[in-house]
Amino acid sequence: MSDNSFLVLFLGPVREYLADEDVSEILVNGPSAVYVERKGRLEKTPAVFPSEASLRAAATNIAKSVGRMLDEANPRLDARLPDGSRVHAVIPPLSRVGTAIAIRKFKKDTLDAGKLLSFGSVSEAGLAIVSAMVRLHKNLMVSGATSSGKTSVLNVLSSFIPAHERILVLEDASELQLQQEHVLPFETRKADKFGKGEVTIRDLLHSALRLRPDRIVVGEIRGGEALDLLQALNTGHAGSMSTIHANSPLDCLRRLETCALLSGIDIPLAALRAQVASAVQGVVHTARLSDGSRKIVAVSEVLPLENGEYRTSDLVRWRTDRVAPDGKVEGSFELVNPPTFAPEAALAGIPLPRN
Ligand SMILES: Nc1ncnc2c1ncn2[C@@H]1O[C@H](COP(=O)(O)OP(=O)(O)OP(=O)(O)O)[C@@H](O)[C@H]1O
Ligand SMILES: [Mg+2]
Repeated sequence: MSDNSFLVLFLGPVREYLADEDVSEILVNGPSAVYVERKGRLEKTPAVFPSEASLRAAATNIAKSVGRMLDEANPRLDARLPDGSRVHAVIPPLSRVGTAIAIRKFKKDTLDAGKLLSFGSVSEAGLAIVSAMVRLHKNLMVSGATSSGKTSVLNVLSSFIPAHERILVLEDASELQLQQEHVLPFETRKADKFGKGEVTIRDLLHSALRLRPDRIVVGEIRGGEALDLLQALNTGHAGSMSTIHANSPLDCLRRLETCALLSGIDIPLAALRAQVASAVQGVVHTARLSDGSRKIVAVSEVLPLENGEYRTSDLVRWRTDRVAPDGKVEGSFELVNPPTFAPEAALAGIPLPRN
């Protein structure tokens, strides 16, 4: 079965976009409005479905084909298709315009460091700094908004892990493609229709710690697993990495704190903050700019708490100079503060760019 034939079976009206390599997402807002994302920008398309009934049937069939239900009792579907594409669907009356579907097409060629450079998503110096942080076993978080490129950047960061290390990868839906030889990928499992058998990132983290990892890579932190991750990082699993939804490097630390509180384990705020600040050494922040381009807009180091407050120091920052008449965002990456780990890097023989 070719990559998209599976979806084409159900989604005839958007066939053209399923086949179009430039289209990364297809967004169906009821039967008569279909948008696509092409090169980072949303466009409305002329595509329509014959009726809400046929769109709803398409969504139900997608659900059935992966052994799930989409009906009154289960009005939301979160599924990964056999070809790796991700589908989220919500049916009426929750969705008020008719069945809503978002398809994130699976990209076979995940981005590598070379592509990030050629797309202008990061500078050579920025790449040298993040690569040094990975090789020096700093614990890193990749932060950013939805679809800003976090997972892609995490994939690139993981590529800097030396080949001899044992890497455990924990994900909700497998997206990362580590090229090293000694990699153990794990995937969570949703509860079955009886509500049984769920295996969460927290569960997998507990197993991971008993499987002698050198590094732990967690696809995304969304909730209470943050506390388990913080504890793992603070007990000697240096060099681990994950992603989190946040608006800035500082916000990333606050979000980690909030997620850790969701674990339900009672821990005094001061102690939790101390854990966050010592567990995470660096934040790589991603953003999608107004012209649709995605960039690493900041690489920051986490400093010790001051009066109980988080502090970060930007090592690299994107600075926008102007938005050209055609909408293109122009600017440059600048080196801001020197890394505190410069002496450590020198000892390890790892080159850092000079300010
Ligand atoms: N630097 C980049 N340049 C161009 N396209 C990119 C870049 N980074 C990511 N993309 C594309 O943007 C889309 C979203 O990327 P990605 O999945 O990495 O984002 P994300 O922040 O992890 O999203 P989510 O919030 O859904 O987890 C993908 O189609 C990916 O190929
Ligand atoms: Mg992601």
